[in-house]
Amino acid sequence: MGKDVIVACDFSSKKQVLDFLELFEQEERKPFLKIGMELYYAEGPEIVREIKRRGHRIFLDLKLHDIPNTVRKSMAVLSRLDVDIVNLHAAGTVNMMKAALEGLLREDGTRPLLIAVTQLTSTDQKSLEEDLMIHEPIDKVVMHYALKAKEAGLDGVVCSPLEAKKVHDTCGADFLTITPGVRFKDSDVGDQKRVMTPKAASEIGSDYIVVGRPITAAPDPVAAYRRCCEDFINEGV
Ligand code: C5P
Repeated sequence: MGKDVIVACDFSSKKQVLDFLELFEQEERKPFLKIGMELYYAEGPEIVREIKRRGHRIFLDLKLHDIPNTVRKSMAVLSRLDVDIVNLHAAGTVNMMKAALEGLLREDGTRPLLIAVTQLTSTDQKSLEEDLMIHEPIDKVVMHYALKAKEAGLDGVVCSPLEAKKVHDTCGADFLTITPGVRFKDSDVGDQKRVMTPKAASEIGSDYIVVGRPITAAPDPVAAYRRCCEDFINEGV
C-alpha cells in the first residue's frame, strides 16, 4: 500500500454511510475509508463486511488499549474482518503492542497494518502533567511513544502533518505517518486547530491523510475527493 487519501466516515448509521458511498459508485478509484467507534458500535462488524464487499479498503479506528492477552485476542477477531489498517494506544506498552501484532497475523501470513496513537491531540501539556503525571515536554513524549511503537514492530503512527517529518527523521522513512487535520485552503477549519493542505501534507512526507468534513460535508463530495487525491497523491509523484 502506498500514499493515499483516507476518507473519515464519521457517520452514525449504516444508512448514512451507504448513502454517502452511493455517490462514489461510478468512481474508478474506490475511496479508502476510516470507520470509527461511533459507526462500529452502532452497527457492529457487519458494517465492515458490507463496506469490504463494495470493494473499499478500511482503516478501523478503534484504538485498542487493554492487557496484552485481551488485545491479542481482540485483534485476531478484527483481522478476520479483513480490514486493512487497525490501531491501538502506544500507552498500552511494548508488550501490548507486540501481542496485538501476534493476534493480527492471519493463517496465510498476511495481516492488517498496525498503527499507534501516541498522544491524542486533545491531550495538552497541562493535562499530560496534571492528569497523567507525565512531566516531559509533549513533543518528546510523542516521539518516545513513536519509537516504542517501532521497537514493538508496528508499521507507523497517527500524527499531525506538522509532526510527520520529525517522526520520519526519528523512526525512519518507511515508518508510516497517518495524518488527520487536513483542510483545503478555502475550506472550513471547524474544530481542528493545526491544519495543513493536502499538497503541503504531501510535500512534508505524510504517507496517508485522513480527511473527513472537507469531503463528507462538501456540496459535491466526489469532486472534493478527486481534488484531494490530485493534490495529495499526484503532488508527490
Ligand atoms: O472532519 P475532519 O477532517 O476534521 O476529520 C478528521 C478525522 O480524523 C476524524 O475522524 C477525527 O476523529 C480523526 N482524528 C483527528 N485528530 C487526531 C486523531 C484522529 O482529527 N489526532
